[in-house]
Amino acid sequence: MSPPDARKPDAPPAALPPAMSPDEFRRLGHRAVDWIADYWSSLGSLPVLSRVAPGEVRSMLPPDPPERGAGEAGYDAVFADLSRIIVPGLTHWQSPNFFAFFPANASTPGVIGELLSAGLGVQGMLWATSPACTELETLTLDWLAKATGLPEKFLSTSAHGGGVIQGTASEATLVALLSARRRALRAIGGSAGDSSREHALVIYASTQAHSSVMKAAMIAGLATGPDDKRRVRLIDTDEDYAMDAAAIEHAMRDDISRGLVPCCIVASVGTTGTTSIDPVDAIASSIANVFDRVPPVARPWLHVDAAHAGAACVCPEMRWIFRGVERADSLCFNPHKWLLTNFDCDAYWTSDRESLIGAMSITPEYLRNSATESGAVIDYRDWQVPLGRRFRALKLWLVMRHFGLEGLRAHVRSHIAMAEWFEARVREDDRFEVAAPRTMNLVCFRLRGEGAESDARNKALMDRMNRSGELYLTHTVLPRVSSAAPAGSSSHRLGGRLVLRMAIGASTTTHAHVERAWDRIRNAASMVG
Ligand SMILES: Cc1ncc(COP(=O)(O)O)c(C=O)c1O
Repeated sequence: MSPPDARKPDAPPAALPPAMSPDEFRRLGHRAVDWIADYWSSLGSLPVLSRVAPGEVRSMLPPDPPERGAGEAGYDAVFADLSRIIVPGLTHWQSPNFFAFFPANASTPGVIGELLSAGLGVQGMLWATSPACTELETLTLDWLAKATGLPEKFLSTSAHGGGVIQGTASEATLVALLSARRRALRAIGGSAGDSSREHALVIYASTQAHSSVMKAAMIAGLATGPDDKRRVRLIDTDEDYAMDAAAIEHAMRDDISRGLVPCCIVASVGTTGTTSIDPVDAIASSIANVFDRVPPVARPWLHVDAAHAGAACVCPEMRWIFRGVERADSLCFNPHKWLLTNFDCDAYWTSDRESLIGAMSITPEYLRNSATESGAVIDYRDWQVPLGRRFRALKLWLVMRHFGLEGLRAHVRSHIAMAEWFEARVREDDRFEVAAPRTMNLVCFRLRGEGAESDARNKALMDRMNRSGELYLTHTVLPRVSSAAPAGSSSHRLGGRLVLRMAIGASTTTHAHVERAWDRIRNAASMVG
């Protein structure tokens, strides 16, 4: 079908807007960088959580786009709108008083890397569409693997491994599950789409795994919705909220006895709720116990989701959390959470790139090229869900060059030291209790008390703090732990209770901000009784 010729034969073509000249870009670019620098300088005094009502931001902006572009002359109005409408509608993730969720770090080298990537404007789907985009990514992921003590099998120089930048940890989990499905179906003699085989596959994670695991199961066709647990096993946790390795072994044996096929296990290293650490080594041993006579490629895929916590492994003293990862098939963490690299940047490594590429690769004629056919290059389009990809390695490369490993270690250590200090203050104050073991920069705490009434008081405390704009905290509800956990442990008492999470990780946070936060929390506690 061809488009109808709407243009009247004698009408002149519409005039193109004038191209932005290098000088104009220089002026506007300097102005934008100045604006960002001023924004960063003001961060400490802005209310952390945005106070706007739903629809308020939109109502202040015209409903329709301008017919005629304002060009450079329009930027006074743009910057005025940014300051008057956009900034008040933001929750300031880079604020030094941001202690919610997990951090989403930014840094000057990260932002400059992002700007350079936008300025270069390359799309690195194939090696041939920008060799430097691919090769810098391969190198940078090898650097990061070495910086965090990952085993050699995840390096691009190994026989079957390598790293790639995904957008997020959720995408990494999906990619791991799709690789696992591919490998499992090959091992049992089926292919994706072979419904009798596919419907036998099962995925395992702990009750504390991130919701992205269930979402990946839904996308991969292992679940019809969040409540469909027919082929998703959420394993109980022990008293430290870590996956119970004996329970997963039992669950796998049970599934096998019913004709099901364990396909993928997601171990969480640093759970979202409490940063508990699933025992990767013990989980790998459970897999080995169940599949003792089966070659490794026919065993379930073990993916390690270290979205937030993995960054800590730039410090050798934190590498205990990676114990056993040499037995995993894939691992990811997000430099965009705690490693000074602005969103989005998830580092994903696998030791079985054949299964990954096998699950992702499809080559239409228009993507064929001699470099791909030579077999000598990586085409990262085959390592991810989308085809197109940005030059994200630049920002990670700049971060590592700017701070060096020493600087990255100092960044992580400073936050852990602040969390240690905060935890000690909580322990000193009889009104509060530490509600979960602290493994790094997250302190889970609560006002003491039993039952729903104590949850309401803790929620009131959090809401009061967040409304004040002086800091931003979030909460979680602790799980009911396995009945195998020692009787009398505080995790039995606290199962089902609401706790506050103090996640210390913003790039701008200093010890003084944490001290002030604790003063404010203590004072607010007196008000909520
Ligand atoms: C353990 C864990 N996994 C996955 C995610 C999802 O991260 P992303 O936003 O990169 O998908 C999070 C988010 O906090 C997380 O804590």
